[in-house]
Amino acid sequence: MIPAKDSTSLSLLFHLNSEPWRNAEAYQQTTGYKVDYLSVREPGAAVSLPRPGESPLARLIRERYSCRKFLPRPMRLETLSTLLWAANGLTRESHLNGGELCFSRSIPSAGGLYPLEVFALVQRIEGLCDGLYHYAVWNHAMEPVHAGASFREFESSVLMLPFVEHANALLFLAAVFARTQKKYGPRGYRYVLLEAGHAAQNLCLAAAESGLGSLCIGGYLDGELNAMLGLEEGKAGVVYAVGAGYPG
Ligand SMILES: Cc1cc2nc3c(=O)[nH]c(=O)nc-3n(C[C@H](O)[C@H](O)[C@H](O)COP(=O)(O)O)c2cc1C
Repeated sequence: MIPAKDSTSLSLLFHLNSEPWRNAEAYQQTTGYKVDYLSVREPGAAVSLPRPGESPLARLIRERYSCRKFLPRPMRLETLSTLLWAANGLTRESHLNGGELCFSRSIPSAGGLYPLEVFALVQRIEGLCDGLYHYAVWNHAMEPVHAGASFREFESSVLMLPFVEHANALLFLAAVFARTQKKYGPRGYRYVLLEAGHAAQNLCLAAAESGLGSLCIGGYLDGELNAMLGLEEGKAGVVYAVGAGYPG
């Protein structure tokens, strides 16, 4: 291993140099889609498994798919509340060894440091003005960031915006890297991304339970999007986004 001089410069170098890759050739390819599967033994040597169990969770896992067409329908505030809570909400209180009070959340987090902040661009939510909000975890509330901000304004920063233009919510999972990296150094960057995956999957399954479609989005221009959310370059940034709304 090449020792890193500090906890963040290595991952920051990668993070800032991994804006969407303009690989037009790969996007234009309509044939040759192939998924590889690993087989470590000849098929006859494998032990067949019984059918997966049926449960409400199994149904939601089956129902999730990438929805790229949404209907311009209103959504109840309660539904948005459930989505936000599923992504990053408080679940349980407990006491650390020293008796200190701490709160668990809907997702696991390395060291319980919770680097993620959720921003929500919303439209047609009953009882909530359209615009960009920050989800305040501690009081389970929406803090206005840009009242009246429209999905259109994110057209140049979110590359696939036409897919989600009628979605009710575009949830941005932003990370404050130092929260995790001050303890775990360069490896903490991995933890941050893994945690975003946990949050996004919770979002997708919560969306499915509410009869909503969802789309996970990794294609966005970091610099531009982070600036729109007011995130400080190099310190915090969107690491994942999920659109949710009524499937068309
Ligand atoms: C990390 C990640 C990033 C993705 N980014 C995009 C994206 O920017 N735009 C998009 O249309 N789909 C995106 N997807 C969705 C994938 O294309 C989709 O999950 C895949 O084709 C499998 O289909 P399914 O989700 O319907 O099962 C992303 C998925 C993942 C896991």
